[in-house]
Amino acid sequence: MAVFITGGAGFIGSHTCVEMLEAGYEIVVADNYSNSSAESLERVKKITGKDFPYYECDIRDKEGLARIFDAHKIDAVIHFAGLKAVGESVAKPLEYYDNNIGGTIALLEVMREKNVKTIVFSSSATVYGSENPVPFKEDMKTGGTTNPYGTTKYMIEIILQDLCKADPEWSVSLLRYFNPIGAHESGLIGEAPNGIPNNLMPYIAQVAVGKREKLSVFGNDYNTPDGTGVRDYIHVVDLAKGHVKAVARAVSVKGCEVFNLGTGHGVSVLELVNAFKEANGIEIPYVIAPRRPGDIDNSYADVTKAWEILGWKTEKTIVDACRDTWRWQSGNPDGYGN
Ligand code: NAD
Ligand code: WQD
Repeated sequence: MAVFITGGAGFIGSHTCVEMLEAGYEIVVADNYSNSSAESLERVKKITGKDFPYYECDIRDKEGLARIFDAHKIDAVIHFAGLKAVGESVAKPLEYYDNNIGGTIALLEVMREKNVKTIVFSSSATVYGSENPVPFKEDMKTGGTTNPYGTTKYMIEIILQDLCKADPEWSVSLLRYFNPIGAHESGLIGEAPNGIPNNLMPYIAQVAVGKREKLSVFGNDYNTPDGTGVRDYIHVVDLAKGHVKAVARAVSVKGCEVFNLGTGHGVSVLELVNAFKEANGIEIPYVIAPRRPGDIDNSYADVTKAWEILGWKTEKTIVDACRDTWRWQSGNPDGYGN
């Protein structure tokens, strides 16, 4: 059985490739490298000692996708490919709707044509919007997203749910990730953002390595214990293992299921800064800055469903994630570019 992984060269995709190979699956990867490079896939091979085919292919290219499906016996798809920068999506909505939604529809059309009807999709906690109380639970109302990126995730969830209603042969797993951080413990693969990082952990890592002077903490007057924003930071290796469980479930159960993938614990910005110091002995200089538009006070998961149905829960701590991030960042200060 081979699993086709779109966006497999990216941050979460590359870690999932490792866990899928280590669980004994065959994989086939496609990526257009718009936010990654094939070097991450070479490193996946190095970590696992296993070979697998990968293709430079845009998921909007249906002929390219069809050729890959014809060349391999694909049974299921894990779909990571997409653009993910919140701020950029506000400035470039058409690019985001075209890439994320257009790309997903092209992929689904090719899957239907090739009679592959099992898909695990990278959704996001952002679909819970700003009105729900924490912890977020899968059956809460979704929508009310505040940026085109988040809206693409919400819309793709609806598209996949509609597909399952129309054709009971489909198996869809919607995985709502909370805040993935960390890196593989080998230090060979990790997060390699282009330009100034948007997200907290890569920003901290770049301050630690001397690329940025200090962290701006976006607001200390939130309704949280220390006033800084609270999030559910999940180690990317735990997250990757969640995909192995989700694929196994999706191939055996038809219909659409939704799972939160988080730790179930909220951690503030300042707690993450302190965890980085505890893990690595490095102080992160910071200033308190104004709130970032669109940010919410609290976001963390209720993880009961993933535990009960997938038999999955996180094993690593934020201190583990800070140590692994630093091993990756200090060994690869320019990401895959060195
Ligand atoms: P990433 O940018 O590292 O990975 C996405 C990959 O998809 C990249 O390798 C990129 O080159 C590729 N890609 C983009 N558009 C493509 C296209 N049209 N055709 C082929 N490949 C394409 O991001 P990531 O953090 O690994 O995220 C993976 C998925 O998880 C994304 O769908 C993202 O929206 C979702 N997600 C991420 C987070 C997060 O905080 N990292 C949280 C929730 C959901
Ligand atoms: C975390 C906390 C910031 C940077 C985003 C997307 C979401 C999902 C994950 C894909 C917040 C604070 C941050 C900085 C800071 N992505 N912060 N200084 O906003 O929870 O989620 O990534 O689906 O859709 O919105 O993550 O890492 O940007 O921020 O103080 O330089 O860190 O205000 O409280 P966020 P983040």
